[in-house]
Amino acid sequence: MLLTWMLGCPVADPVPADSATDADVPTYNADIRPIVDRACLRCHNADGIATSFEDPAFVQAIAATIAERVKNGEMPPPAPDPACRDYEGSERMTLTAEEITTIGAWAEGGAPLGEDVGYATGDDAIPTIAPYDIELWQQVAYTPDFVEDGNDYRCFLLELGNEEPVWVTGVEPIIGNPKIVHHLVLYQVDDDVEVSDDPSGFECGGLGESGWDFWVGWAPGGGPMVLPEGTAMRLDDNARLVLNMHYYGDGTRAGESDLSGYGFTTQAEEPEHAAIVYPLGTERFTIPADEPAYEAGMDFTWQADYGTFHVQGVFPHMHLLGRAFEMSAGPDCMVDATPWDFHNQVSAFFKEEVVINAGDDVSLTCTWDNSADSPYQYNDPPEKVRFGEESNAEMCYAFTYGWFE
Ligand code: HEC
Repeated sequence: MLLTWMLGCPVADPVPADSATDADVPTYNADIRPIVDRACLRCHNADGIATSFEDPAFVQAIAATIAERVKNGEMPPPAPDPACRDYEGSERMTLTAEEITTIGAWAEGGAPLGEDVGYATGDDAIPTIAPYDIELWQQVAYTPDFVEDGNDYRCFLLELGNEEPVWVTGVEPIIGNPKIVHHLVLYQVDDDVEVSDDPSGFECGGLGESGWDFWVGWAPGGGPMVLPEGTAMRLDDNARLVLNMHYYGDGTRAGESDLSGYGFTTQAEEPEHAAIVYPLGTERFTIPADEPAYEAGMDFTWQADYGTFHVQGVFPHMHLLGRAFEMSAGPDCMVDATPWDFHNQVSAFFKEEVVINAGDDVSLTCTWDNSADSPYQYNDPPEKVRFGEESNAEMCYAFTYGWFE
C-alpha cells in the first residue's frame, strides 16, 4: 500500500483557481464517483478482496495509479465478453473508452473532488441478496495451517434441519477473511453418506468425495447469484451440505483465521424448472514448462439420451496460469473469457438461454501461459503443471447452470 502511494505521486500540482481549463477538468463527485461505484466497489470495499475505494480522499490520493491501471486494461479485471453472449450485470464489468479518457483527464488535472453534487452510492454498488431467508455458517472460526505450498483444505458439515425440501432462488457466500479464502464449494451430501460433524471441521481435498453432489462454488471476484426467473435449485429435506473451504496464504498470513458461511433466498413453491449446476470440462492435461500458449479442453457431440439442456449461465473456472477460456454449443457462442483473469471469476447468467440439442457440437478450449513471463506464474523457474485443485495446479471447468427437458 505504502509503495502504491509513493509510486502513485498522490496529489499533482493544484490547478490554479483562475486557470482557463479549470471547468474542463472532470471532478470526482460529478464524473468519477458514478464510474467507481458501478465498476470498482464490488471488489474495492471494506469487506472485499481489494483495498477499499469507499473514501473519496483515498481514491483521489491514488488517482495516477488508477488512471494507469484503467488505461492498461488491467482494471476492472477482464471479464467474460458480453459480445459473445450478454449476461446480467455485464455493464458493471467494463468501462467505455470515454470513461477511461475521463478518468485520465481527471488524474492529469490534479484529481479534484469538486463540489458535492448530491450523488449517492447506490445500494447495488456492493451487490448482496441480503436479507437472507437462510444463513448457514461454520460453527467456529478456523485457523488454516499453511504448510509447504500455502494451501489448506478444510470441510465443514452444515445442517439445515428442514422438514420439507427448500427451493433456493439466490445464493451468496459470506466470506469471513477474503485475504486467505481462495475459493469455496458447497456440496449437497447423499442421505447414506457419513460426514464428520466436528464443529472445527475435518481434513478433505478440494474436489469433493463420492456421494457429495456439487452445488455451488465461489472464487475471488464472484458475487451473489440470483437465479433466473422461473428456476430454483432444490435442497432436499434434512439437507446436509459440506462447505469445502480452500485457504491459501503466503508467508505473511500465518495465524489468520476465517469464519465463513452462505446466505440463501428461497421460495416455498416448486419452480417451473428445477435447475442444477452441471460441470463440463477436462482433467486430462499436462502443461509443459515454458509453454506460453498451451491449449486443452473438450469437443464432443451432444447425444440424444443426454436430453435437451437449457443452459442459463456459466461459471468458467481456471487457475492462475489461465489466459483464455472459450466455449460454444452448436452455433452459439457461450463464453469468451479472454483474457482470463483469476481475480474476476464471474457467474455469467445469460440474458438469453442457450439450448443444447442432440447433434450439437459442444466445445471448450482453455489456454494457459506457463512461461516465466506469465502474470501470475508461481514456479521459478516454470515447471510442468497438471490438473488439480491446488492453487499451484490448474483447472478447466465450465460449471453450467440450467435444466434438462
Ligand atoms: C473483480 C474485482 C475487482 C474489480 C471489479 C476492480 N478491481 Fe482493482 N483490484 C483488484 C484486486 C484483486 C487488486 C489487487 C491486486 C492487483 O493489484 O492487481 C486490485 C488493485 C487495484 C489497484 C492497485 C492499487 C491498490 O490499492 O492495490 C488499482 C489502482 C485498482 N485496482 C483500480 C481499480 C479501478 C479503478 C476499478 C474500477 C474501474 C477496479 N480496480 C475494479 C480487484 C478488482
